[in-house]
Amino acid sequence: GRVLSVTSEMVPLIKTGGLADVAGALPAALSPHGWKVVTLLPAYPGVAAKVGRTEVVWSDPALFGGPVQVLRGMVGAATVLLLDAPHLYDRAGTPYGSPQDFPDNPQRFAALSWVASRIAREGLTDGWRPDVLHGHDWQAGFAPAYLRYGGETPVKSVMTIHNIAFKGMAPAAMLGGLRLPFEGFNANELEFWGQLSSLKAGLALADAITTVSPTYAAELMRHEFGMGLEGLLAHRAADLHGILNGVDEAVWNPETDPAIKPFGRAKLAARRANKLALLAEFGLTDAGGPLAIVVSRLTDQKGIDLLTACAADFVAQGGTLAVLGAGEPHLEEAMKDLVKAHPGRIGLRLGYDEALSHRMFAGGDAVLVPSRFEPCGLTQMYGLRYGCVPVVALTGGLADTVIDANPMAVQAQVATGIQFHPVDALAFAQALRRLHDLYADPKGWALMQKRGMAQALGWDTSGSTYAKLYESLTA
Ligand code: ADP
Ligand code: GLC
Repeated sequence: GRVLSVTSEMVPLIKTGGLADVAGALPAALSPHGWKVVTLLPAYPGVAAKVGRTEVVWSDPALFGGPVQVLRGMVGAATVLLLDAPHLYDRAGTPYGSPQDFPDNPQRFAALSWVASRIAREGLTDGWRPDVLHGHDWQAGFAPAYLRYGGETPVKSVMTIHNIAFKGMAPAAMLGGLRLPFEGFNANELEFWGQLSSLKAGLALADAITTVSPTYAAELMRHEFGMGLEGLLAHRAADLHGILNGVDEAVWNPETDPAIKPFGRAKLAARRANKLALLAEFGLTDAGGPLAIVVSRLTDQKGIDLLTACAADFVAQGGTLAVLGAGEPHLEEAMKDLVKAHPGRIGLRLGYDEALSHRMFAGGDAVLVPSRFEPCGLTQMYGLRYGCVPVVALTGGLADTVIDANPMAVQAQVATGIQFHPVDALAFAQALRRLHDLYADPKGWALMQKRGMAQALGWDTSGSTYAKLYESLTA
């Protein structure tokens, strides 16, 4: 079968978060199961250059204020469709604007969704047409809506929630301008508390909904996590599937990773050189305790305020901490203050650095993920893969990928990390104390590292689960 995957980010072309990793991994994850995924995304500046040779396969002289065309090219073995619309995407900054959101984001991503629905319905100029339109997050939310409002079609739609916090809100007055029908403006379709929500539109009108872990799928139907969409999701429970993300093992493999000094489960001692290099790179002094790392957007979702609250206690007990991230200014400032207060024990790199992130998973003893909510989370999985033991909040995908080292799990030799609940500073501080205790037993620690490294984290199972979903929709 054929899938049109609609996304605003895709590795290796453009990335601000895990959505890009997942969109980039789906084509290879699905192809062994008989599904060819073609990915549609905006041609942000520089993206077309990374794709190389392209051909025009669709065009429209006037879409939301300017001419657009779709360029088809290859990224490795994957086919991509770049939506070339200079009036919408030829801008500096992140895909969404920086530091503030672009005011015309509703049009920018409605355009992406509109083009997706036209391609799904009418095909490209050479006749290629998908069996399934698969949209990711609010940026693609209107795609299932346009498809549905366009009338009968054999094409089925799937909407994936990577993060329900971003709803794609727009003023109700934009309805007509966004080519949406007046009848759709009701609480069962496009309306969210008097405004338009592209995410809600997609969730209401897609044939099936997925999210990126089973636990998050269940959480989303509860008011603590649904952020106002719990009712709609509970109503659609039969169509809501939690499918765990995988790790792209071509990119994240400690035995072949060119960014690190290679090691594996059988030669774990070779890991040590990576730790020493990482300490040196961050200017840190080993105080005998674990070297903890954080690779994260610095936001409230990620619980970075809990990290700043617990860091002093952690280093007082002999730990060291290396943080890589960028995000909200007040959290960046709080991190800088910590570095000043604990020189040589806490290190910080503000910014985005893919290669450094690899060195951190290879050299860190533990990766900290104190998220308040986490649809799936990828860094705890990278940690498992690299023998960097995850310390995580018990929520979403973090609950589904880590086995907590409670006394029974340790005795049964199944533990792979540490989980804490509730997600507050007290529980996190206790988790960090448990980290110190576990680390102080080198034999048990090495066993725990090896267990995580042996865990199946690739895309095999999830790829086949997506394939079964597509098959059930198109049967
Ligand atoms: P989210 O998508 O919510 O940010 P995920 O854990 O799913 O969370 O994915 C985050 C991705 O971005 C991971 O691949 C992580 O390694 C990467 N990442 C986050 N911050 C940085 C950074 N500052 N430098 C390099 N990689 C980063
Ligand atoms: C979102 C979520 C993250 C998830 C990623 C990829 O950004 O915050 O938990 O891993 O999407 O699905």
